[in-house]
Amino acid sequence: MLLFSGSSHPDLAHAIANSLAMSLGRCTLQRFPDGEVSVVIEEEVRDQEVFLVQSTCPPVDNHLMELLAMADACRRAAAARITAVIPYFGYGRSDHRNSEGRPIMASVVAKLLESVGIDRVLTFDPHVPQMEGFFQIPLESLTTTPLLLKGISDHVSKDVVVVSPDAGRLGLALHYADHLKTEVAVLHKQRHSGNKTQIHRLVGDVKGRSCLIVDDLISTGGTLKDVIEALLAAEAVPEIAIVSTHTLLCAAAADVLQHSAIKYFITTDTVPQSLDLPHVKVVSVASRISTAIERTLAGQSLESLY
Ligand code: R5P
Repeated sequence: MLLFSGSSHPDLAHAIANSLAMSLGRCTLQRFPDGEVSVVIEEEVRDQEVFLVQSTCPPVDNHLMELLAMADACRRAAAARITAVIPYFGYGRSDHRNSEGRPIMASVVAKLLESVGIDRVLTFDPHVPQMEGFFQIPLESLTTTPLLLKGISDHVSKDVVVVSPDAGRLGLALHYADHLKTEVAVLHKQRHSGNKTQIHRLVGDVKGRSCLIVDDLISTGGTLKDVIEALLAAEAVPEIAIVSTHTLLCAAAADVLQHSAIKYFITTDTVPQSLDLPHVKVVSVASRISTAIERTLAGQSLESLY
């Protein structure tokens, strides 16, 4: 089998290769002067199992196009099966139409991936589980929750309240609350645009309690900032812990993560992390991916990683 890395997250691809005691396949990724992607797969992939590691994090379209080009090159060179390992799946939030005149980009991306001959997709914590329905090929949705729960347990007090930033993360918050044997609070959040949200109401009692905010994604940090402010306004203890699966540092997100009320922040490396702050911990998904690859090659179920 062969494992190739796109340009989005070579550190993670190397960590996966190390964990599998192998080297990454050679491939040259460049851009033509006009910006078009140029890919050359420099290994014999004929009749081989191929895994392509590429997070579709910003610049999302560039990374997506590069992945499509790599898959197309492998398919045309007669690879036996192509698995796209997409630790963070960009466009995942575009899963329905808020109004007429809008596309459903998660569906568009699924069609593009299939069109270049990708046989299966392996990803972590997609924004909505129904995303699987956009694909005709298997979408293996692995979870990061056990990794993050393990990392957070020693950093929250017994009376912590698990906070869901919006209705969409309530299931995740309940899952954490169940493990930590505590309660949940949820915010009524409305999104006005890509960088503007509004909190209408906090449901649950956080007064005098420490809080653990759980979210699948931090992009601009706008949601996080609003939630922290709502919790402080409701007189929560200003020692807030945060769990985020995918942490993109767009706009002023890095500044938000330095908020004085944040005591501990834990995230994964599904996208490259450059945060160097004492209260920030990054756990790697590399070993979960290598386990998933090994099981795929052995024809075993991945269900225990879901
Ligand atoms: C929303 O449904 C997600 O769970 C995140 O809360 C949101 O996408 C984060 O985006 P931002 O950091 O830009 O507010």
